[in-house]
Amino acid sequence: MSDLTFNKVAGAVLATGLAIVGLRELSAGVFAPPEIEKPGYLVEVAEAADAGGAAVEAPIDWGTVLPTADVAAGEAVFAKCKSCHVVDQGGANGTGPGLFGVVGAKPGAHPGFGYSSGMADFAGKTPVWTYEQLNIFIKAPQKTIGGTKMTFVGLKKPEDRINVIAYLRSKGGSLPVPAPDPAVAAQSSEGGVPAPSGPDAGQAAPGAAEAGKPTATGSTAAPAVGAGGPTGQGPGASAEVKSKTANPN
Ligand code: HEC
Repeated sequence: MSDLTFNKVAGAVLATGLAIVGLRELSAGVFAPPEIEKPGYLVEVAEAADAGGAAVEAPIDWGTVLPTADVAAGEAVFAKCKSCHVVDQGGANGTGPGLFGVVGAKPGAHPGFGYSSGMADFAGKTPVWTYEQLNIFIKAPQKTIGGTKMTFVGLKKPEDRINVIAYLRSKGGSLPVPAPDPAVAAQSSEGGVPAPSGPDAGQAAPGAAEAGKPTATGSTAAPAVGAGGPTGQGPGASAEVKSKTANPN
């Protein structure tokens, strides 16, 4: 092969390569893929668990979460409330009323505090601050009680609310902890709220998931009759599918 032939061949190869690269660049310009603003699709439930916003949130079983709530963490969360509230016994009213003993107390009744008319209305309908009432109020004060003077955005995270309510309860709270409700506990553990479930609820879930059909009937006998229907069918059905695909031999 003469030098000249080699040059020709090499030149041709190079030119072809260049042409390919050039074409790709060109076609990329012409057939530009549309830009995706939001990849994938939004899973509403996951978002609700994250943001804890107005979206549906799993119910909290106070009898289950309060005994294991982190009171120290609740005290840390209470730093957000301290600019307006004192929680010690005999503490003075500030921008907000003293909160000693507020758990289980009549709303809007702390001596010497001038409550808003919104809070007064609420107090007319609400005999005592229950755990759930406090939870709803602290999550979004302005949305819960129209016209409240509590200009606080609210605590979005369920754990923060659980812990701060446990802390408030430790400061003169008069409301007993309710008995755990396995039906609510089962629901809330599905929703991502940390719910160390009772002995019954703890066994019902894995049992139904592993054994499939036999426990599907067993789960109707579970204490949670209300939740037993839908949750019993869900894992039970998927366990059936699993065992079908897992037994090809
Ligand atoms: C910007 C000031 C401010 C902050 C911050 C604030 N609050 Fe309040 N809070 C108020 C005011 C003012 C009221 C009285 C509301 C009314 O009269 O409408 C109130 C009322 C309350 C009540 C009802 C008291 C009663 O006597 O019925 C509770 C419970 C409460 N706040 C808890 C909290 C918690 C818990 C936090 C922190 C997570 C917090 N607040 C943060 C100002 C505040």
